Amino acid sequence: MSGDIFAICSVDDIPNRRASPFVLARREEGGEVRPWPIFILRWGKNVRAYENRCPHQDSHLDWERGEFLDSSGTRIQCGKHGALFDLGTGECVDGPCAGARLTALECLVDDGEICLVGVALEEEDEIDSGQGVE
Ligand code: FES
Repeated sequence: MSGDIFAICSVDDIPNRRASPFVLARREEGGEVRPWPIFILRWGKNVRAYENRCPHQDSHLDWERGEFLDSSGTRIQCGKHGALFDLGTGECVDGPCAGARLTALECLVDDGEICLVGVALEEEDEIDSGQGVE
């Protein structure tokens, strides 16, 4: 895996104790470029990035777009069946996939930018959405 660093957004783009979704474009091992949904969570100066995919049924977590946290704001919550995940580790602490984990992504803050590390991303306009523009 390469050590490439990709800036995703500014720290200030994500309000404190909130998470934001992004759909990136990742090159798979076979060379295909596929949409790759992730989300980035911020509290204070800490950031975490996870794939936007629940380990219970591989569904996205934010059934209301951009809503990743439970009502107390202290757990990540899957909107489909309500599994709760630890903010810092992504481990499911309650719900149908207890003990499973979200897929964590290596990230860092560099000069106010939240960056992913060591992933093969492509420019988004290289994704073929399969939908023609009429
Ligand atoms: S798909 Fe997330 S809890 Fe079932």
